[in-house]
Amino acid sequence: MEVTDVTGDAGVKETQEESKETDGNLFKDILNIRHNELNNNKIFKDKKKTTPDYIPSKLPGRENECKDLASVLSDAFRGCIPMNIFIYGTPGTGKTSVIKRVFDDMEKFQRNNKKSNVEVITKYINCREKATSEYQVVLRILEDERLKNISLGDSSNPNAQNNKIYGDKLDGLAVEKLYEFLEKVLKRGKIALMLALDEVDAIKKNSNKDSIFYNLVRMNGDLNDNSENREEYNFNAGITIISTTNDMKFKEKLDPRTRSSLSKKGMFFEKYDVPQLEKILEERVKLAFYEGVVEKSAISFAAGYVKKTYDGDVRYALNLLQISGEIAEKEGKPKVTYDEVKKGCDVLNVDTLNEWIKRLYRHQMIVLYAVADAIFKKKYKRLIDIQPDAILSGEAYESYEEKCKIIGEKPKTMRWFREYLNDLQKCELLALSESGKGIRGNTTIIGVGKYYTPKEVVEKIEKLLFGDEIQKEKEEKIEEKQKEGIEEEKTKENQKEGIEEKEGIE
Ligand SMILES: Nc1ncnc2c1ncn2[C@@H]1O[C@H](COP(=O)(O)OP(=O)(O)OP(=O)(O)O)[C@@H](O)[C@H]1O
Ligand SMILES: [Mg+2]
Repeated sequence: MEVTDVTGDAGVKETQEESKETDGNLFKDILNIRHNELNNNKIFKDKKKTTPDYIPSKLPGRENECKDLASVLSDAFRGCIPMNIFIYGTPGTGKTSVIKRVFDDMEKFQRNNKKSNVEVITKYINCREKATSEYQVVLRILEDERLKNISLGDSSNPNAQNNKIYGDKLDGLAVEKLYEFLEKVLKRGKIALMLALDEVDAIKKNSNKDSIFYNLVRMNGDLNDNSENREEYNFNAGITIISTTNDMKFKEKLDPRTRSSLSKKGMFFEKYDVPQLEKILEERVKLAFYEGVVEKSAISFAAGYVKKTYDGDVRYALNLLQISGEIAEKEGKPKVTYDEVKKGCDVLNVDTLNEWIKRLYRHQMIVLYAVADAIFKKKYKRLIDIQPDAILSGEAYESYEEKCKIIGEKPKTMRWFREYLNDLQKCELLALSESGKGIRGNTTIIGVGKYYTPKEVVEKIEKLLFGDEIQKEKEEKIEEKQKEGIEEEKTKENQKEGIEEKEGIE
């Protein structure tokens, strides 16, 4: 009894702390902390579902587009080759998601539909990431596991030993050879190939963009005894191309011959409006957050903000949702409300600026830096103010040359400089306008894009271009100041000592 009295609560506490100190295994401590964090984390149920890489099975606002696409492609199951399709739409309007969603269902249907006498194979290629030339596109198709297997022939049949159409070594062969393989393998497998060429405008200009379409369309004729039997039933095999692009003029730029042999069907994906964005976010919230965590007003605010600021690009809406959840988590809040989303908007803007800047070529970045810095430091003063926070193109070039000198780069010619200005305008990092007559004739007025301040742009780019140097400079300045401070103190002390000594003497 006595023992219990003596130790009591305080005693137990002490013992625990002691044991923590003595038993202080690093991993035990760290994992304990993590475990606690996990237990308290009541915000995200499955955070990865807030990322724009995740494609949900439900696509609110795109139900009709999914049905339209599926309806065209369903011809493959009816025994004729579906039409080629062009899908247009600005970034983040769901083009890729719709194709992947429909392809997914198509594959599932094919697996369960044993009656069909053709095999439907879907092949998705993101041209920007995986195939920026005609050659690479054909190569990517041939690399498909199922086509490769068909190419190998029937391995169980000894007579079919030399039946292989192509092997693993495809790289380095002429493109005509690759087309020959493709035609043979499609014919052998009686295949209806649904080929998605996503971001088709990324196929490089120097490789003839038209020829990929032309050659694939022509192959359909060859596969089916040269008759253009797209609409005829019981074809041997065939290809349907579903292409996507942000470039509305893409089809116009194609060779007229190719254009006419290409599809009749074009689809245009409108930008999402606020109610659609709300619905998309609501569905994501159900998948990624614990029930009741995200307030409805927070979703509405996020949808409205992204519509206004980012033209309804759904990727930004999803990023904002994730950032807001992280803010609530970090601040220990039980809910994601208007306040967290409001804070999230600032983080999103900075993140977006970072992303954009990181993607720029070096000289594009220097041009942007030169313009933003000249505006930020109010380098050019004039009597008649052209526009607040803007400079003229001549001044911008001068500033660019100066920055190149500091950075140690040779400035590009005026022609390139103009190209860079246009590129930067396209991604809204710069805003260009014509001065009209009056200011030194007709010149271009340049300001920083509406989403960012010149100061923000300067700070971001300086960090990227000079990184550690700037930090070092700052530290050196602080050190200098501290030294100056110490010196001052010393002189004061010396003076004081001097006076005291003097007084002492006196
Ligand atoms: N209707 C929708 N419902 C739910 N999520 C969607 C919807 N539309 C798009 N998304 C989400 O947004 C992401 C981006 O959309 P997607 O890649 O389909 O746009 P895109 O039109 O192909 O853009 P880009 O032109 O930049 O390639 C998708 O990965 C998906 O997570
Ligand atoms: Mg896409």
